[in-house]
Amino acid sequence: MQVSMTVNGTEVSRDVEPRQLLVHFLRETLGLTGTHWGCDTSNCGTCVVLVDGVPVKSCTQLAAMTAGHEVRTVEGLADGGTLDPVQQGFMEEHGLQCGFCTPGMMLTARALLDRQPHPDETTIREAISGQICRCTGYATIVRSIQWAAAHPAAAPSDQEVRA
Ligand code: FES
Ligand code: FES
Repeated sequence: MQVSMTVNGTEVSRDVEPRQLLVHFLRETLGLTGTHWGCDTSNCGTCVVLVDGVPVKSCTQLAAMTAGHEVRTVEGLADGGTLDPVQQGFMEEHGLQCGFCTPGMMLTARALLDRQPHPDETTIREAISGQICRCTGYATIVRSIQWAAAHPAAAPSDQEVRA
């Protein structure tokens, strides 16, 4: 079946299997391998992308269900050569750690800061509670998001991101 959606501001249209998951559509059909696939149980959250600005586990949604919607992946976080403050924050505060869960963490953080620019620590921890850090812990991830909240100046506006 033919499926069309907007991915990182670009309209894409592909012939897909009706059963294809969004995570596989992004990774295998579009080659956007920044979205990671970390479990078979819909638990880890490493596959999170934004669909119409809302964090979604892309392993729980069919590509066909996403037709007509706007998807943002980690490849769409930076504004040209300018890193999103969330990306800068993960660099400044060493939130990268394993790097594998990082794309989903960063997209969830972006969505949080878009709707709530100055979240407290509890709110940040609740926002990322659907994502599992298996390697180290959440302290530097939380600090990275706090850094981004404190340095919003480089954040492109929603309109600019979608332009
Ligand atoms: S790959 Fe683990 S929740 Fe999607
Ligand atoms: S930072 Fe990715 S699993 Fe811990």
